[in-house]
Amino acid sequence: TTHWIDAAAHGDVPEDDVIGLAIAGRDIALYGVGGEVFATDNICTHGHARLCDGFLEGHEIECPLHQGKFDVRNGMPTCAPVTEPLRSYPVKIEGGRVWLALD
Ligand code: FES
Repeated sequence: TTHWIDAAAHGDVPEDDVIGLAIAGRDIALYGVGGEVFATDNICTHGHARLCDGFLEGHEIECPLHQGKFDVRNGMPTCAPVTEPLRSYPVKIEGGRVWLALD
């Protein structure tokens, strides 16, 4: 069975924006897009930059350091110089809370 972790209140995830949170000892980015929430690792796979300091446009997060981009839905790179996918995590919204499956 999936182990769901209570990550945040749904209302704390801004719409069309990104926040970084420490959850279970990991640095996680939560993205609010169109009423949905997506979750990935917060550290870019290209260098040591936090994606929560970047710029979210639609489903794409732009890294603040070299402007590489990822699709927040699956962590796939969409723009150079990033080539390695970000780890992404299943999300569910229940009881007004955002739950993540980190395993
Ligand atoms: Fe993110 Fe270089 S550190 S694109």
